[in-house]
Amino acid sequence: MHRAVVTLDPAFAVAPVHRRTFGSFVEHLGRCVYTGIHEPDHPSADEDGFRGDVLALTRELGVSTVRYPGGNFVSGYRWEDGVGPVEQRPRRRDLAWHSTEPNTVGLDEFVRWAGKAGAEPMLAVNLGTRGMADALDLLEYANLPPGTALADRRVANGAREPYGVRMWCLGNEMDGPWQIGHKTAAEYGRLAAETARAMRKLDPDLELVVCGSSHSRMPTFAEWEATVLAEAYDDVDFVSLHAYHHPVDGDVGSFLAAAVDMDTMIDAVVATADHVGAKLRSRKKIMLSFDEWNVWYQDRHRAAGLPSDWPVAPRLLEDVYDVTDAVVVGSLLISLLRHSDRVTAAAQAQLVNVIAPIRTEPGGPAWRQTIFHPFALTSRYARGEVLRVEPRAPAYETARYGPVPVLAAVGTWDAETGEAVLFAVNRDQAEPIVLDVDLRAVRVSAVLEAVTLADADRTARNTADRPDRVVPRPNASADLVDGHLRMELPPVSWSMLRLGPRPS
Ligand code: AHR
Repeated sequence: MHRAVVTLDPAFAVAPVHRRTFGSFVEHLGRCVYTGIHEPDHPSADEDGFRGDVLALTRELGVSTVRYPGGNFVSGYRWEDGVGPVEQRPRRRDLAWHSTEPNTVGLDEFVRWAGKAGAEPMLAVNLGTRGMADALDLLEYANLPPGTALADRRVANGAREPYGVRMWCLGNEMDGPWQIGHKTAAEYGRLAAETARAMRKLDPDLELVVCGSSHSRMPTFAEWEATVLAEAYDDVDFVSLHAYHHPVDGDVGSFLAAAVDMDTMIDAVVATADHVGAKLRSRKKIMLSFDEWNVWYQDRHRAAGLPSDWPVAPRLLEDVYDVTDAVVVGSLLISLLRHSDRVTAAAQAQLVNVIAPIRTEPGGPAWRQTIFHPFALTSRYARGEVLRVEPRAPAYETARYGPVPVLAAVGTWDAETGEAVLFAVNRDQAEPIVLDVDLRAVRVSAVLEAVTLADADRTARNTADRPDRVVPRPNASADLVDGHLRMELPPVSWSMLRLGPRPS
């Protein structure tokens, strides 16, 4: 049995909780779009062909922004293929995922879907096979008022009001040799800066995201960010970060410490961006958009390979998540929140079927994967300010990161409601943690809710037949006495503790 202590004190606020931390991602990949968000023949489909069950789960998940249409897909995408009368839209080969893209869903449908899901659309432009002119055309179509050719085309396609999309990604993973139109940092930095300047001339209110590294093990990591930002610092608002985690060679201890990797990557990108800013004598700070993160069993994907027969919406990257994966996802959300001073946007990749919290069967049910739960509860209850909690906890040895604390935790404090929330992960595979939460500074008087996601079998999963095999359950150990709360966190668990004024 481990013992750990955290203190919740509003004096130690990091930054506001940003709603955009809880973003997601819809790519034209596998069954994310077709039989994911869109399936006109499905019994729950609405008048636009969107699955009602998926829309309901998306709202329950609490996603704020949704990035679209890729991902690797965007680097070969012609956006205009996806607008206008559906029966006239061309079918194309998608080189990124070796699939056939029917273009039944495009920008107009996506924006309509996002509206129904209550999410803010975040678009990526193709800087792979295309460039600045195409980015300007897409921006004109999406955001300009009627009166010019492409804005009028949007109106003719049924949308009089401009979409007002604020966040735009300048390409995707342009550092990766797998990317169509992959570039050197110098080539990309120049193109990104020029594209950003031109886009701002058309719409000055944009928030622009320049591509950072595809992951922190890229040989060009940090050097890429430094070179790109040296070109584009004044023209962009965010630099992107991407990271996927999975157990390597069965090393679950290191996998459970994945948030250490996320912390290190964030710190490195902040340091790099600030170094460039210092050299430029700039007062501006570049923010971080962690717009692809998740657990992804990439070995399975590599072993399966890509389809050779160019199918429409094949089953690709359909990872089935277990309890351990959900605990890791919970810990990654804790890391994102802890860095809310610089990480002001993020997107879990992806939303449906493809490495996703929501799974569907064509013509059949939709259900919540294990990873759905920590995301949904963190998004729903993290409100107000993020609090630094400085846990005191023992460490365990990991092969990948050396000693890592068994406890990961972050707090939030909503001064308006007087509600404090603690999110906590026990990474130990054998021992529970008895957690002592010092609450004297927040002066809460009641435990509003204490839930834990854990299982005697940490490989337990949710499936179409047993969709609720793994759910968060009340944690009856939570006991509040004289400003101190004691709670037991089982091995390999994610917990949420809500405290506040006693309900009247
Ligand atoms: O999310 C799956 C893929 O991972 C995306 O298309 C790409 O950007 C990343 O490499």
